[in-house]
Amino acid sequence: MRWLHFILLQCLLIVLVAAVVYIHNDRVVVLKKPPVSLAQWYKPENKRQVWLHNMFKLRREMQAVRFYSGNENTEHLQKWATRLSEHYLKIGEMVPEWSDKLNRDAITLLQSSAKNGRYQNVSDALDKLAESCKSCHADYRAITATIYRAPDFSSLEIGPSISFDTHMQNLAKQVNQVKIASEDGKKNVAHSSLAALKQGIDKLGETCLDCHKKDKQVYPDEKINNTITNLEKSLTTGTPKEQGEVLGTLAVLACARCHGTHRLAYDSRKLMSDKPNWLELIKH
Ligand code: HEC
Ligand code: HEC
Ligand code: HEC
Repeated sequence: MRWLHFILLQCLLIVLVAAVVYIHNDRVVVLKKPPVSLAQWYKPENKRQVWLHNMFKLRREMQAVRFYSGNENTEHLQKWATRLSEHYLKIGEMVPEWSDKLNRDAITLLQSSAKNGRYQNVSDALDKLAESCKSCHADYRAITATIYRAPDFSSLEIGPSISFDTHMQNLAKQVNQVKIASEDGKKNVAHSSLAALKQGIDKLGETCLDCHKKDKQVYPDEKINNTITNLEKSLTTGTPKEQGEVLGTLAVLACARCHGTHRLAYDSRKLMSDKPNWLELIKH
């Protein structure tokens, strides 16, 4: 009797959890996270993006096998089928948690058919492999690229005591201060805020070189600098409407372009890497 109660209680719990998830399914995104053992195949734990390069090999090898089985060229077919098998099985060696996602029967079929020149069977084996590629990619491709390859800004510092985040907030304040002063005809404030913004932009440019290894500073580029010069002139002689337009152009060139690449990717990375906060989950 006790066991029956216990099992019933368990079932009730499962139904309850399922019901809660179902009721909230329009407000919660459920993602599968890749196993942590994947980290060793990416920077910074590894010098190269080993996992990604194994994937590029697989795509090339699938193509070569398809090509040579179509041409009925057994010699080259065998060479590429061997490589494909090796790199496909390497998936399970690199991330043991994913071993059970591999279709080993398809690999065995591929190798024996390649050896014996049974081209139709080679093609069938490739189709089965392609399904296994697709099924893992559907769950894990995008999230893996985001977590392990989106550039990380969390430890960047602008100065000894200014975090990247604080610098961003200051830049936004300066942009808005220019706009407010321009609208209200306060030329001096507009000019001094623009001067501060220019300084902040130059300072930000130094951090790009941490990752963008170029001989000269890539940010701010000539376009941005010209726009700042135009805005300086406009703040003296232009109408508030003109000033607003030039400022808008500056914000696109100096802020929005980079946000489109870096902020978007970095925000997603943070969203997906952060540990779930149970309090937040329960509140939802
Ligand atoms: C067990 C999981 C898994 C299996 C099986 C798998 N992959 Fe992948 N693959 C991934 C993950 C994770 C990524 C994302 C890596 C990244 O972007 O850094 C990826 C990315 C790729 C990419 C790069 C995509 C792009 O355009 O950037 C290619 C190409 C690729 N895989 C090919 C293959 C092929 C071909 C197979 C089957 C023969 C295969 N993969 C099987 C997990 C898998
Ligand atoms: C933490 C390293 C890092 C920092 C710091 C960094 N970037 Fe990048 N950036 C990258 C990487 C890596 C790419 C390649 C694309 C990708 O993987 O997102 C890239 C791509 C870009 C791109 C899009 C592609 C291109 O080359 O045109 C722009 C624009 C860009 N960065 C601007 C900047 C600017 C401006 C700064 C400084 C204010 C900066 N980045 C600072 C790592 C960084
Ligand atoms: C590297 C390219 C890059 C450039 C250029 C850039 N930003 Fe950002 N910005 C980022 C990234 C990355 C974040 C996310 C930082 C974070 O969440 O810690 C961010 C976040 C912000 C935020 C939000 C800060 C917060 O507290 O969450 C504001 C506001 C902002 N940027 C304003 C600006 C303005 C204004 C400019 C132009 C004058 C600018 N940014 C130029 C990359 C850039």
